Amino acid sequence: MCGIVGYVGKKDCTDVLIDALSKLEYRGYDSAGIAVFEKNAIKVEKTKGRLKDLVDKMAEDGKPAGHCGIGHTRWATHGEPSDINSHPHGNKRISIVHNGIIENYKEIKDFLIKEGYGFESETDTETVAKLLDYYYDGNPLDTIIKVLAEIEGSYALGIIFRDFPDRIYAVRKDSPLIVGVGEQENFIASDVPAILKYTRDYYLIEQDEICELTAEHVRIYDTRKNVIEKELQTATWDIDAAEKGGYEHFMLKEIHEQPKAVKMTVSPRVKNGMPDFSETGLTVEKLKQYHQIFVVACGTAMHAGLVSKYVIEKIARIPVIVDIASEFRYREPLIGEGDLLIVISQSGETADTLAALKLGKQLGADTFALVNVVGSSIAREADMVLYTNAGPEISVASTKAYSVQIAAMYLFAFEVAYAKGKITEEECRKYVSELMEIPDYIEKTLECKTICQQTAAKLMNADSLLYIGRGLDYALSMEGSLKLKEISYIHSESYAAGELKHGTISLVTKQMPVIAVATQKGLIEKTISNIKEVKARGAMVVLVCGETLDIEDGVADCIIRLPEVDEILMPAIAAVPLQLIAYYTSVLKGCDVDKPRNLAKSVTVE
Ligand code: G6P
Repeated sequence: MCGIVGYVGKKDCTDVLIDALSKLEYRGYDSAGIAVFEKNAIKVEKTKGRLKDLVDKMAEDGKPAGHCGIGHTRWATHGEPSDINSHPHGNKRISIVHNGIIENYKEIKDFLIKEGYGFESETDTETVAKLLDYYYDGNPLDTIIKVLAEIEGSYALGIIFRDFPDRIYAVRKDSPLIVGVGEQENFIASDVPAILKYTRDYYLIEQDEICELTAEHVRIYDTRKNVIEKELQTATWDIDAAEKGGYEHFMLKEIHEQPKAVKMTVSPRVKNGMPDFSETGLTVEKLKQYHQIFVVACGTAMHAGLVSKYVIEKIARIPVIVDIASEFRYREPLIGEGDLLIVISQSGETADTLAALKLGKQLGADTFALVNVVGSSIAREADMVLYTNAGPEISVASTKAYSVQIAAMYLFAFEVAYAKGKITEEECRKYVSELMEIPDYIEKTLECKTICQQTAAKLMNADSLLYIGRGLDYALSMEGSLKLKEISYIHSESYAAGELKHGTISLVTKQMPVIAVATQKGLIEKTISNIKEVKARGAMVVLVCGETLDIEDGVADCIIRLPEVDEILMPAIAAVPLQLIAYYTSVLKGCDVDKPRNLAKSVTVE
């Protein structure tokens, strides 16, 4: 999704903007641009492509020289990636950058055309720029307030006015925005990593708050022009957390950070050996009363929800309905009072997940958010919030966020099972203590790097792949399959191993490798039979299983052995080889591992 930044201070503005934008590259983008005050005029440079293309272009055109400006990385929604559709948009008087979607832009555009405005781009953003120009009366704040009253949709906007070359304005609704506060310099950004090199202090901007920044001050107003006093936040992680730290890619770094991330997420939520969710307001009494639990999310976070369904239903005996947020919100879900809605989101900004949360709330369910980004929209909207302490996840393909999500959901499952009287305190303590050992097991599992690399070499030329498993292995293999698709562009499907013979097995040939996950003791024999079925049809089989499993010769072409823990916890460990296989396949194919084509890290559109 688009990223926005802005800088006002004493430094070379263009350098700061490019640097800050580079920290937002993880969001996914296809064009980039900046607008900087140069001798009191707005100078715009923008281009389709990567930040490097923008830097090259500026080397030819002359780099804008100034101390105040805004910048943008665009992830195309309205209009293809092109120089003209790139942000900033506007004219000589006003220039803006935008993350989000203006839903009523057509009406506004039609109106402005009647008023004599011309449009160059196909973007919704240009209509906001021109509407600002239409209302502009010399007072930026009044002008912005008038425009806010007319635009519908989501936005984080950075705005500069030629008449005020020492300042930036910014406003948000349903798209993230922070204001970084430095010494004699201030910033706007879509996310904290963009400003960490310069300052750790920032304000979290709320819905429809309008910010005015100069080098000396930051003022924040509501839409009635009242000044709002806000509490300054301080980023607890430093710049290293947002840098690659010696790894070739963020994804590999983040895979290696999983032991620490799981520890950071689980440990603070265990008191005297028992789960403790008191920080969220979720009590044992409340948990006892829920009739059903809904887990709603998108992408990898939804896959974490699927793992939790198997675990919660197995040990707590309460129905868990897992849904994709974009489906849930439009299917008139049977959720209401007495139900608990858990939404899971790394970014806390995913538009569909946020909408699902609002819907669940409106229908009377209690809402609980499992979120990584502190202060994000989803975290603020939910009745209860539990933060996963994974630190910033930069790679578009999610790895450590998945691990911490399932770890937190395990703890949650133990708590519900205990609250519902389905497990004893002793059993609960045992589960908790095993969960607390998972970081060490993940660490040990990372040693399977070499075999994953060798496996990737065998898979890299395949056009299509199957992942199979049963029960929790099936839930996990969905994530394994998604990882591979996302970053290596090899088509893959995850199938319940027992369902293959009902159609999909017709695809199996020598050209279709199969990755089988078999960690669930009671299901292993069944899965092995399914593996033999695909092997008999020529498939190259990669088997991921526990270290003690006795396997006949010839069942699999390649076996990846894992340390063994209680079988319900196995996905936390088995995720690692699946992530590494996807990673190495992508590397071997020469793909852009951290920034796969067409994908975005934070999806703030429907
Ligand atoms: C995007 C990302 C995925 C992520 C999904 C949900 O599609 O590329 O990696 O799983 O959004 O994101 P969230 O921030 O809500 O977890």
